[in-house]
Amino acid sequence: MWCSNMKALILSGGYGTRLRPLTYSQQKQLIPVANKPVLFYAIEDVIEAGIHDIGIILGPNKDQVIETVKSVDWDANIEFIYQGEPLGIAHAIKVAQYWIGSSDFVVYLGDNILREGIVNHLKYFKKENFDASILLCEVKNPQRFGIVQLSEDGKTIKRLIEKPKVPPSNLALVGIYFFKPIVFEAISHLKPSWRGELEITEAIQWLIDHDYKVGWTKVTGWWKDTGKPEDILEANRLILDDIKTSIKVETNARIHGRVIIEEGTQIDENTVIKGPAIIGKNCIIKNVYIGPYTSIGNNCVIENTEIEDSVVLEDSKIKCGGRIVESLIGRNVKILRQHNHPFGKRLIIGDNSQVVL
Ligand code: DAU
Repeated sequence: MWCSNMKALILSGGYGTRLRPLTYSQQKQLIPVANKPVLFYAIEDVIEAGIHDIGIILGPNKDQVIETVKSVDWDANIEFIYQGEPLGIAHAIKVAQYWIGSSDFVVYLGDNILREGIVNHLKYFKKENFDASILLCEVKNPQRFGIVQLSEDGKTIKRLIEKPKVPPSNLALVGIYFFKPIVFEAISHLKPSWRGELEITEAIQWLIDHDYKVGWTKVTGWWKDTGKPEDILEANRLILDDIKTSIKVETNARIHGRVIIEEGTQIDENTVIKGPAIIGKNCIIKNVYIGPYTSIGNNCVIENTEIEDSVVLEDSKIKCGGRIVESLIGRNVKILRQHNHPFGKRLIIGDNSQVVL
């Protein structure tokens, strides 16, 4: 096995402030995309690459992450490593040094999804015997990411800058990095940045400045950092684009396109579903139109409603008689119709919510 000596460190800490209010009650890497926690895509990718020693970095909602990860029988040894305060990606790596020891390792940010997986990127890191290797992807909004400036001949990395105001290129650092243990030496020289974090970009810059071999590979398929609600919706569309039909219940509903319906779900004959879409277990769907790019979690009740291009988490009830589009709806949410006077919108909404009426 060419990578049996590799370990993987998956980051599932941080506060996820850009995904509030959902992240008040749950860790952001556990938000589902196509009914699967974002974190699971990272775990699957590293296992697919033949890495079976996985460390998961935990932050504020550590028990939730442990419970969710343990709900699956992974083909891997999983170590949970508590980071505490999110003091930076490089800080998380430093906290895990005792567990990584002298192994080469991949760091995978638990809120990233990479369609093609990491197999080919890992092979290149090994083949070229790099000290570190990063993945690059062209983006439209380089101010949001770590950005790389290549040398004039485009062969080597000259500079890495975290979220530059004036980006020197549109080549973003994907949240997946391969390292030899020399990176611990690089991290030991770092000081907290202006945002109070130990920045991984600065650790890689240290390696370049000290003549270590830092390589890069370019992403060929799509890549998504699910940091904001619109990113979750976009990742949901991209994942649903690849699903195959699998209907595990009897229904007389009209179903068009590729649709997954899980066990125990009841769907009446007045319902129309246009895929790609996924409906979880034990839902009740009555007189509903479910349009393309919709994911409905387990145990939801949806009646007399049209919903499209949206993600609904488990245990929610939607009986509003209206049309819902491009929405991200949390767990155990109720969206109901007003039947009695006084008519009008009655809202009980948590902090930092967003409603567009
Ligand atoms: O997604 C790619 C980008 O990820 C890169 O282009 C940037 O160079 C890199 O700094 C990072 O930027 P973000 O602003 O997206 O990082 P964020 O603070 O969201 O953290 C990324 C993940 O790591 C997220 O799942 C939370 C977790 N994390 C983060 C920090 C700072 C931790 O577990 N511990 C931490 O201390």
